[in-house]
Amino acid sequence: MNTSRLDASHVSVVVTLLSLFASLAIGQDTTWLSAMDLTKMRQGWGTPRSNLSVTQHPLSCNGITFANGVGTHARSFVWVDLGGKGEKFTAAFGVDDGAPGPGSIVAKIWGDGAELYRSPVLSRGRMPVDIDIDIRGVQKLVLSVSDGGDGSNSDHADWCNARFLTRGKRPQTIDPVEDDPGLLTPIPPLAPGLNAPPVFGCRPGHPFLFRIPCTGERPVTFSAEGLPASLACNPSTGVISGRAPGTGTYAITLHALNRHGSQSRRMVIESGSVLALTPPMGWNHWYTHYGRITDSLVRDAADFMISSGMADAGYQYVNIDDCWMNSPKNGDSMRVGPLRDGAGNILPNRHFPDMPALTAYIHDRGLKAGIYTSPGELTCAGFAGAYRHEAQDARRFAGWGFDFLKYDWCSYSRVAGADPGRSALMTPYETMGDLLQQQDRDILYNLCQYGMGNVWEWGERVGAQSWRTAGDLGVELDRFFEVALRNAEHRAWSKPGSWNDPDYIQIGYIGDARNAGLPAPCSMTRNEQYAFMSLWCLMASPLFFSGDMGHLDPFTLNVLCNPEVIAVNQDALGQCAAVIQCTDETFVMVKDMADGSKALGLFNRGEFPADVAAPWTVLGLAGKYAVRDLWRQRNIGPAAGEYRVRVPRHGVALVRLTAEQSNPPTPKKGALQK
Ligand code: GLA
Repeated sequence: MNTSRLDASHVSVVVTLLSLFASLAIGQDTTWLSAMDLTKMRQGWGTPRSNLSVTQHPLSCNGITFANGVGTHARSFVWVDLGGKGEKFTAAFGVDDGAPGPGSIVAKIWGDGAELYRSPVLSRGRMPVDIDIDIRGVQKLVLSVSDGGDGSNSDHADWCNARFLTRGKRPQTIDPVEDDPGLLTPIPPLAPGLNAPPVFGCRPGHPFLFRIPCTGERPVTFSAEGLPASLACNPSTGVISGRAPGTGTYAITLHALNRHGSQSRRMVIESGSVLALTPPMGWNHWYTHYGRITDSLVRDAADFMISSGMADAGYQYVNIDDCWMNSPKNGDSMRVGPLRDGAGNILPNRHFPDMPALTAYIHDRGLKAGIYTSPGELTCAGFAGAYRHEAQDARRFAGWGFDFLKYDWCSYSRVAGADPGRSALMTPYETMGDLLQQQDRDILYNLCQYGMGNVWEWGERVGAQSWRTAGDLGVELDRFFEVALRNAEHRAWSKPGSWNDPDYIQIGYIGDARNAGLPAPCSMTRNEQYAFMSLWCLMASPLFFSGDMGHLDPFTLNVLCNPEVIAVNQDALGQCAAVIQCTDETFVMVKDMADGSKALGLFNRGEFPADVAAPWTVLGLAGKYAVRDLWRQRNIGPAAGEYRVRVPRHGVALVRLTAEQSNPPTPKKGALQK
């Protein structure tokens, strides 16, 4: 038995009891953090635990066990309402001995926005630090754990014996307090507003379908000047269809006219080998419907994409994820049945009675349809995969009329073995990539294998247009800033036709894999949702909303449908923004745009509004720049030397910097000249 451990934990119990008696004697209340409502605590991984570590073991730092406290994981924060009645906060703080690696964490405590305490960087095996701070007069206190500047792996943090001494009022954990940004995107004008991407890729001779995205009061009359003879534009729907022309670059001009005005915009059709010249945009069912998806929910999604105005902002793909096939075993008997017919053709389950009719329904609206499978025998949710039927399935998907395939690794590990090398990782994706290229339609190819083998380095080589760079964001949503910063590290592989995919946009109402399917508002605050969308646009990520199309409230649409923000995502250069400054609390991202301007995102991960600056020296700029606030679609005057702005808690300022006439920048190589 380890006697020194025993001694130390006994000492900690005795100290706790003594201080309790002392506070009782002088009329103070003691409130343990462990006894407070921990559902208000947010953290980067796992769930906060009362009197246990985040992995549910007794709290233990450097061999000392603690009976009382809270186990959490960086980045973590909780707001506490003291109402000015606090006296003291005391705790011992350190990395839990159960952390799988050394970890590195910093505790920070703020009172009404002022920093009251900051620990040194702590790691596993170091003595916990004793915290004893004066909290008199503080209204709102924040306890936070940051990641020590090196990401949050193994950052299991323990607030041991954490307690508040107060007089006259018990402290309470509360939701974070932040200014409501309101609805930032202005209502689109009644006159037409064309939102087509600058460039659109297709393969010669294949079916061509493109619905011109355009806001404005209907009816709108559309036309497309300079269209190759194999294409025609429907004047009332704005859907361009036909066969893709022969290899070449076709500069067309789109026109839209209604009773309030008219607008024209250039778009280039590149008929050749490269698809998705700008990041694909659409909807995917996963984070709302999970294993409950049906034909009618997909049709509804297509209808909502039109009626909500999302299609007018550029959203185009309506994608089915897992669970459309049969499974050997499922709680829903309609999803259980033969996996294939006698000829080996994959069979949809009874919730999908007629796949060609479903894609036709989507195509009739000028939209495109996506489907999902796995190279393994079974998909991640246990449904029939494509293993040993790849060619047949690729033909089937094309025959049914699909325009997009997500190919999800799932059970393929059983084929590839426990630790496959790069070529084994590539094999199934190469096979399907080749097969898709043999079909007589354009099918975008999305790799989903969670970033294994640095997929960004070879995704394009196997014929894909996008690849997930990490695991499911669903379980990491609370750390979307960190996920984005990691995704942006692969920026060198972002270019037209090749996109890093950090997973879907989970804003608005999202579903729950476990409950009956009732979608609920996502856990992110409004500022966080604006920050999320800004990150995905700056990183040129595929823009797939995965929230509930049936619950598109004005705020969600406001975040999803700002044409000036989306234009950052759809820029012809295809660059992923670079992180140019990153502190524990704030960071700046900059993206070169095809017209020579720069899109700039200034982010604040901290708990209080912060000033964030982007100096010209760091941006490589000189002279004066016009600044446009993209969310508010408002010019905010010229800046020289730097751009500085106050950014809300967990929020963003997204601006575009354009050189004033006196100092024109050189357009970047590869930029499409207007
Ligand atoms: C994996 C993928 C998700 C989703 C599910 C479906 O987890 O990463 O995006 O497709 O499978 O089972």
